[in-house]
Amino acid sequence: MTDIFQPIALNRMRLPNRFVRSATYEGLADDNGCVTDALVELYDELAGGEIGLVVIGYAYVQPNGRGAPGMLGIWSDDHIEGLARLVEAAHKHGAKIASQIVHCGRQTFDALIDGTPVAPSPVPTRKFGVTPRELTASEIRELIEDFASAAARVKTAGFEAVQIHCAHGYLLNQFLAKDSNRRTDEYGGDIEGRARTLFDTYAKIRETVGKDYPVLIKLNCADFLPDGLEVEESIWVAQRLSEMGIDAIEISGGTWDTEADEGKSIQKGVPHRSPEGYFLPHIKKFKQAVDAPVIAVGGIRTLDMSRRIVEEGTADLVSMCRPFICEANLLKRWRGGDTSPARCVSCNQCLARCAGEGLQCFKKESPARST
Ligand SMILES: Cc1cc2nc3c(=O)[nH]c(=O)nc-3n(C[C@H](O)[C@H](O)[C@H](O)COP(=O)(O)O)c2cc1C
Repeated sequence: MTDIFQPIALNRMRLPNRFVRSATYEGLADDNGCVTDALVELYDELAGGEIGLVVIGYAYVQPNGRGAPGMLGIWSDDHIEGLARLVEAAHKHGAKIASQIVHCGRQTFDALIDGTPVAPSPVPTRKFGVTPRELTASEIRELIEDFASAAARVKTAGFEAVQIHCAHGYLLNQFLAKDSNRRTDEYGGDIEGRARTLFDTYAKIRETVGKDYPVLIKLNCADFLPDGLEVEESIWVAQRLSEMGIDAIEISGGTWDTEADEGKSIQKGVPHRSPEGYFLPHIKKFKQAVDAPVIAVGGIRTLDMSRRIVEEGTADLVSMCRPFICEANLLKRWRGGDTSPARCVSCNQCLARCAGEGLQCFKKESPARST
């Protein structure tokens, strides 16, 4: 039986255990998206926590792909030097580290990108309100090139892997969904057309970084929106990516517009208090359908559930975000015998406040919230 603390190889990357720190926006980069000392400190601390793979916060691949202040950029070679400092901080502790690359598309504000946001089609989101400008076919081809250049920078900076962000309603996810992609050219139409931008992006990245460099993806199991990406479509996308050679698929769900699913908020895959492992029933279906290793994410809070996920073959790896904001040394605690659940109470103050105040657990300041 597979144990959660057993090593696993994703392509040439050998991880000491099956825990992943899911990509987490830090709000700590400078105005140009460059790494700051605060980011180096954050990853120095996390890397000492014996997490199998640490994925850093989403980094934008084009200047107009920015979605939040203090977000990391990866659209210029000028970003490489700072990113290499994060790699160095991780490697000092022997940790493996990956970078997630994204274009936020219509999930942003004009003020953040100095212009009109872009999208597959001119359809606004409820949350952001702005009507985006439709990308031309030649701009889509540029976008694909820029994703590949960003992946090359990830490799040059020394990260062990790159992760494509195709979840939570960002641009590649927008292409997949009927509601946000109403195009009638080769990048729209049925799911095959709507997935073309993603498949071409993956293929270009693979061609650029080479066969043996780990390329991962974070994919929505569903958007949980009318005419959003549906589970069956997403499984089809995952199967194609698996056949194309993707090295692992992390399954999340929801977008900034997703408000409720069966009465539970799953906005952007980050619900405020909900049952442990809320995406697991869907994740299981992906695991059964694809050969590529599957990473489970979403509200996992106990060692017991983490163990069961890999033992029962629901997924190959277990990813957490908020628990590591609260306790960078959570895994050390569990390995040391204190297996009480993660102290994170999913209050989501980290998400609400990191844009202005930088990533941290605010519950620690206010014990009243821990109940
Ligand atoms: C503060 C914060 C920042 C996040 N930033 C990212 C991000 O940059 N990229 C991403 O794919 N998901 C991001 N997420 C979502 C998490 O990676 C994860 O999918 C979600 O929080 C569910 O996992 P959890 O219950 O372990 O927190 C973020 C979540 C939070 C709370």
